[in-house]
Amino acid sequence: MKILVLPGDGIGNEVTAQAVKALRAVTANGPGFEMTEGLIGDAALAVHGDPLPEATLEAARGADAILFGAAGTYESDLLPPEKRGGHGLLRLRKSLDLYANYRPVTAFPELIGASTLRRDVIEGVDLMVLRELTGDIYFGTPRGVHRDDRTGERVGINTMRYTESEIRRVGHAAFRAARLRRRKVCSVDKANVLETMALWREVMTEVGRDYPDVELTHLYVDAASMHLIRRPRDFDVIVTGNIFGDILSDAAAMLTGSLGMLPSASLGEGGRGLYEPVHGSAPDIAGRDLANPLASIMSSALMLRLSFGMEAEAAAVETAVRHVLAEGYRTADIAEPGSRQVGTEEMGDAVAAAIARSR
Ligand code: NAI
Ligand code: MG
Repeated sequence: MKILVLPGDGIGNEVTAQAVKALRAVTANGPGFEMTEGLIGDAALAVHGDPLPEATLEAARGADAILFGAAGTYESDLLPPEKRGGHGLLRLRKSLDLYANYRPVTAFPELIGASTLRRDVIEGVDLMVLRELTGDIYFGTPRGVHRDDRTGERVGINTMRYTESEIRRVGHAAFRAARLRRRKVCSVDKANVLETMALWREVMTEVGRDYPDVELTHLYVDAASMHLIRRPRDFDVIVTGNIFGDILSDAAAMLTGSLGMLPSASLGEGGRGLYEPVHGSAPDIAGRDLANPLASIMSSALMLRLSFGMEAEAAAVETAVRHVLAEGYRTADIAEPGSRQVGTEEMGDAVAAAIARSR
C-alpha cells in the first residue's frame, strides 16, 4: 500500500501533514502504509525548474494513491504555463488520466452556524459535485496570447474542447455515483451558447438512457449557480465540465461553512486515485498555523475508502472529524462565538487523538 505524498505549496504543506497524522493513527495497529514524499508546484520549480518533475510523475505512476496538498502561488500564476506551480497539478491529473473529480459537499449540523447562509436553507445539504478534470478550456488548443498582425493588438485565446468519449465516461461515473446516493443527476452546461456544451448535453442525455432508475435534469451554469445557493438540498449529483465544476464547487463550499471543509477524490479507470482538498495554497494565511486541515483529512478518508477499500478506517477518520467538531474545536475559518479556536496543528492532533481513542 504505497502512498505518494505531495504537499506542494503554501498551506498544502500544513494541511497535508495533518492528513498524514490521521492516516498513521488509523493504521497504527496494522501493517500501515509506505509513504514517500515528492515535490510538485512552486516547490518543485525552485529545485528542478519544472512544477511536475519527471521523478514526481514516475513516483506517482508507482504509487497506489496520491495525497496532494495545493500547488501554485499568486507570483507563479503570472508566469508562462510551464513555469506555473498550479500547472504541475493540471499535468499530473492529465498524465494519470484522472478524469472524474468527486467533491462531496456536506453541511455538518455542527457547522450550520459557521455558514453565511441561513440555517433553513443549508440544513441537510448532502450533494456531490462531479467535475470532469482532463478536458475543457483548461487543455484545449489553440491557446495562448499573440499579437494580431493586422491590428497590432494582443489577443488571448483558449479553446473549450470535449470529445464525445470524454463526456460519456464522466457521465457514466455520475450515474454510477447517483445509484449509490439519491438517484438524481443534474448535468450543468451552457448548451444555449457553446457548441461544446450542446454536445455535452446531448451525450449526457444519451448516457442517461442506460440508467432509467436515475432522474436526469439539465441546468445552464448561470442558473445552476443560483439554484445551488437558493435550494441546495434539491441536488444530489451535479456533473459538469472542468471549468464550471471548478467555479461551482467553490460556491458549494460555502454551504458547508468553509472552503477548508471540502475534500475530493480524483479517479480514472484504474484503481489509483489522487486525493486533495478543493482549496488552493491560500497565500494569505500560509505559514501561520491558521489553515483548516479538515478538507485534507477528509480527503485521506476518501483515499482509505476508494483506493484501499478500507471502509472501517475511512469511517473512523470521518467520525473523528465529527467528534472534534462536536467538542467545539474550530479553526479560524469556521470559528463561532464560544467555540474553541485552534490552529492547524492542534486540530490535526485532536483528530488523530480521536482516531486513536476509537481504535
Ligand atoms: P485558495 O483556495 O487558496 O484560497 C481562497 C480563500 O479561501 C483564501 O482567503 C484562503 O485563505 C481561504 N482558504 C482556502 N483554504 C483554506 C483552509 N484550508 N482553511 C482556511 N481558509 C482557507 O484560492 P486562491 O486564493 O484563489 O489561490 C491561491 C493560490 O492557490 C493560487 O496560486 C492558485 O493558483 C492556487 N490554487 C491551487 C489549487 C490547487 O492546488 N488545487 C486550487 C485553487 C487555487
Ligand atoms: Mg478551484
